[in-house]
Amino acid sequence: MPPGQVGVNASIGSALWRGIDIDQARAAARRDAGGMQAPPLATHAAVRIIRQEHAALAAMLRSIVMLLEQHRRKGTLPDFAVLRAMLFYVDEFPEQRHHRKETELLFPKLRARTPMSRDLLDKLDNDHAWGERRIRHVEHALLAFEMLGEPRREAFEAAMGKYVDFYLEHMAMEEREILPLAERVLSDDDWRELDEAFGQNRDPLTGHVPDLAYNALFTRIVNSVPAPIGLGPSL
Ligand SMILES: [Fe+2]
Ligand SMILES: [Fe+2]
Repeated sequence: MPPGQVGVNASIGSALWRGIDIDQARAAARRDAGGMQAPPLATHAAVRIIRQEHAALAAMLRSIVMLLEQHRRKGTLPDFAVLRAMLFYVDEFPEQRHHRKETELLFPKLRARTPMSRDLLDKLDNDHAWGERRIRHVEHALLAFEMLGEPRREAFEAAMGKYVDFYLEHMAMEEREILPLAERVLSDDDWRELDEAFGQNRDPLTGHVPDLAYNALFTRIVNSVPAPIGLGPSL
């Protein structure tokens, strides 16, 4: 194993996750999304976790875009296995855990407590409902690029770019509108349940040591992906 890389059993929690500068990722996401507000001090664990998971997803998505830009400039093909691993992470953690818990737990509690922001909650729920189809579309575009090569590079870049813009805007709206509203209207009992539920997510990109089953996946990402996500050379 080349020097500087971490193995499956190495301290993943202190390698990849140290590489993510949450504030930097958030600032970058703010720029891209046209103004994700500076986060107020989160008073509840669930809000803190949601913000951290947004920053991790934003950092991962931006790294994919940076990778693609670099390969386009050089006229080289990307490491498709690494790109597949990165998209698998997006599918496995943000899609399956983060967004699902917002739709199944956070948003119903908000609807029960206030008539405010109903249209926005409907829109965000709709975004979540279509999330699986969106990521499948991107994964298929990646497969086409891998199978057919150069003629499908542009289509994959376009699909990826659209997906990234969509999610940065989605997260910015949640941070700008929904989390402050939740802080205002939810009860202590609501927060106990939300803190417990989001506390179980344990997304490795927010500083948690991955479950055994995910070690190999995250080791691969750590060692192959450029900073700020991984330990690979910076772009
Ligand atoms: Fe969401
Ligand atoms: Fe979210």
